[in-house]
Amino acid sequence: MNLIKNRKVGFIGAGNMGQAIMKALVDTQTVAPGNLYATNRSPGKLKKVEEQFGVKPLSTNEDLVDTCDIIVLAVKPQDLAGVLEPIASSFHDGHLVISLAAGFSLKSLQRLLPSVKGLARAMPNTPATIQKAVVGYCLADNAETYQASVEEFLQPLGLVVPTEEGETFEALTVSCGSGTGFVLELMQYWQEWIEEHGFDPATARKMVVQTFLGAAALADKSESTSLVELQDRVVSKKGVTAAGLQSMRELELERGLRYSFEKAAIRDQEIERGTARQ
Ligand SMILES: NC(=O)c1ccc[n+]([C@@H]2O[C@H](COP(=O)([O-])OP(=O)(O)OC[C@H]3O[C@@H](n4cnc5c(N)ncnc54)[C@H](OP(=O)(O)O)[C@@H]3O)[C@@H](O)[C@H]2O)c1
Repeated sequence: MNLIKNRKVGFIGAGNMGQAIMKALVDTQTVAPGNLYATNRSPGKLKKVEEQFGVKPLSTNEDLVDTCDIIVLAVKPQDLAGVLEPIASSFHDGHLVISLAAGFSLKSLQRLLPSVKGLARAMPNTPATIQKAVVGYCLADNAETYQASVEEFLQPLGLVVPTEEGETFEALTVSCGSGTGFVLELMQYWQEWIEEHGFDPATARKMVVQTFLGAAALADKSESTSLVELQDRVVSKKGVTAAGLQSMRELELERGLRYSFEKAAIRDQEIERGTARQ
């Protein structure tokens, strides 16, 4: 599409997620070399991104907004209002602003940046660091014309999912953002059980990882087959897998997981209300 290849992209914040996105943009040549800029509170990370990805360091956030067309807000949510308030007047309606801040609503962003029409919120999960993220995004009202640019920007991170702010954005945050943590929790149970049955930790870890990767890759390769059908293929009546699955269902594993998802969603709402009050 090349909508952003020759645009100047600036990151306010060169921490973990900022760096993951810079790396993805550079590796996939989505943005032309020399068109990436960043600021950061402490200087060490700026030096690192300059050396590793050729990102040009700028000394103030105001300079960055003056220099760039696309501004990525990659500071912690609790720092965001303090970062934007003093530089709000530097933004104009030609800017596209993409906020990564969890729990910071588009309404709060609009209040802070009233002159910006191109406002988007994106929620990548940590596999973004290896370009295997699920990244959801939503656009502010009347920002539809920026949709293609936002998608092109996020594409290098992994699977891009458009959502609406509210229930679907929250569901994505919980199931994919927190979901990465939930899956890693399950993997730990797997590993512990394997170790208890005679395998050394390194081998047990590899076995778990490959089992999860294998199941996911199988599902990925068989897109037209439902997950239930795929599962049926590994379950023979009265067999080993069937016995295990029956216990999982008797123990209501699904109910436990749903309960955890709902708890996480409630926490997400609390955080969103808290940042909106700032
Ligand atoms: N990490 C994830 O998996 C993930 C997933 C989804 C969304 N997010 C969102 O992404 C955002 C960044 O998260 P992160 O994990 O990358 O945090 P992080 O590693 O702490 O990065 C934030 C960076 O912002 C810098 N910073 C703070 N104040 C600044 C200022 N006034 N001007 C310029 N830079 C400033 C910090 O500088 P210092 O060097 O001084 O600390 C730090 O390097 C957050 O809003 C978070 O909600 C993260």
